[in-house]
Amino acid sequence: MYAAYPIEEIRKQFPSLQRAYHDKTVAYFDGPGGAQTLQSAIDAISNYLTRGGANLHGNFPTSFETEELIATAKQDIKSLFNAEKAEVAFGPNATSLMFAVSRALARSWKEGDEIILTELEHHSNIDSWRTAAEDKGVIVKYIPFNPSTLTLDLGMLPELLTSKTKLVAVGSASNCIGTITDVKRIAEQAKKVGALVAVDAVHAIPHMYVDMEEQNIDMLFSSAYKFFAAHVGMAIIRRDLFESLDVYKVVPAPGNVPDRLEMGTQNHEGIPTVSSAVQFIASLGSGETLQEQIKSGYQAIEAYENNLAEKMRSELAKIDKVKLYQADASVPKTPTVAFRVEGISPKEFCIRMCEEHSIFIAEGDFYAKILAERLGIRNSGSFIRAGLAPYNTEEEVMRFIKGTKAIIQTIKG
Ligand SMILES: Cc1ncc(COP(=O)(O)O)c(C=O)c1O
Repeated sequence: MYAAYPIEEIRKQFPSLQRAYHDKTVAYFDGPGGAQTLQSAIDAISNYLTRGGANLHGNFPTSFETEELIATAKQDIKSLFNAEKAEVAFGPNATSLMFAVSRALARSWKEGDEIILTELEHHSNIDSWRTAAEDKGVIVKYIPFNPSTLTLDLGMLPELLTSKTKLVAVGSASNCIGTITDVKRIAEQAKKVGALVAVDAVHAIPHMYVDMEEQNIDMLFSSAYKFFAAHVGMAIIRRDLFESLDVYKVVPAPGNVPDRLEMGTQNHEGIPTVSSAVQFIASLGSGETLQEQIKSGYQAIEAYENNLAEKMRSELAKIDKVKLYQADASVPKTPTVAFRVEGISPKEFCIRMCEEHSIFIAEGDFYAKILAERLGIRNSGSFIRAGLAPYNTEEEVMRFIKGTKAIIQTIKG
């Protein structure tokens, strides 16, 4: 499968890969911050606006077409996540949807109820639930992060779960260190006490198939700008749960599911790009149905990206002064490689990568604040993060390794 991966064809579909900086073609290693955008997605925006945009519920073609494009995008998202028993709501981004859903859920929480979060999360998937809990006197517990294995300590979960647990919120994969969490195992245990399971799939979704049905997920949040499309957030919520959600909304807005969660007018030109992204993933796979194509498309992406990431990890591990933050080979990971270099701050390293090697790579805690604190590096710039995407190449990885060595050679001491 890896040998057949059509990397050149894929690269042609992302026009920004042609960009040069200081006379060198840019290598984009900040996919986890925001992936590059498909030409088909760019065309979808342009087509929508060129043909004439409209708001919903009008009695004229541009309004009908807008409704149809949105309905198609929602159906594509259901296929992407195997979520036929769920409904899809769009919003500005994943964070605002998490805040909206947490507020709605919290209306039925009582003082003394409990929720469980994790120490590995991006803070969107912490503070949305935590603040709603605090407003209602709900106790917040955390699945601890183990700094020596770079994984969550899932063995603690049975002790944390009680008959008062209302919710467990967890990420599919860490946006800093790439560790993939066993959501299915968490959901199995959460369901035994009747808790809901919310999953942040924002980082995972450009890299791996997340099956809502198979993993027993009640609510899932994602963002299309991380998977090659426009800035559109999405909440996918089990239909019966969605119907019971008492969301905050303006009175005249539709009260049906899923529209009732969609506050104000949506990003109508951005939403059709979601379909472009789903079709891109499916185009890398095979099978009769869209769902089969998506699943096998992800297998092709995973095989390709894992191979590149392994190369990057093993080359970085050979360099003195580099400290990698990656769980060992037994732990599944996205191709998201966090590290630090002795003698240079993460920020200075990234500036030099950009200015001297035309490699765009980011640093910081990436809002995984607790993780960076547990690793003792938050006060000294946290991580450098080399995040691979399906359009990166081995040549770019080797250029990056060469650049890293060149920067290190100039560090004194
Ligand atoms: C794991 C994770 N969760 C949540 C978010 C927030 O997503 P959004 O920007 O769509 O609000 C991000 C963004 O980087 C992320 O990586």
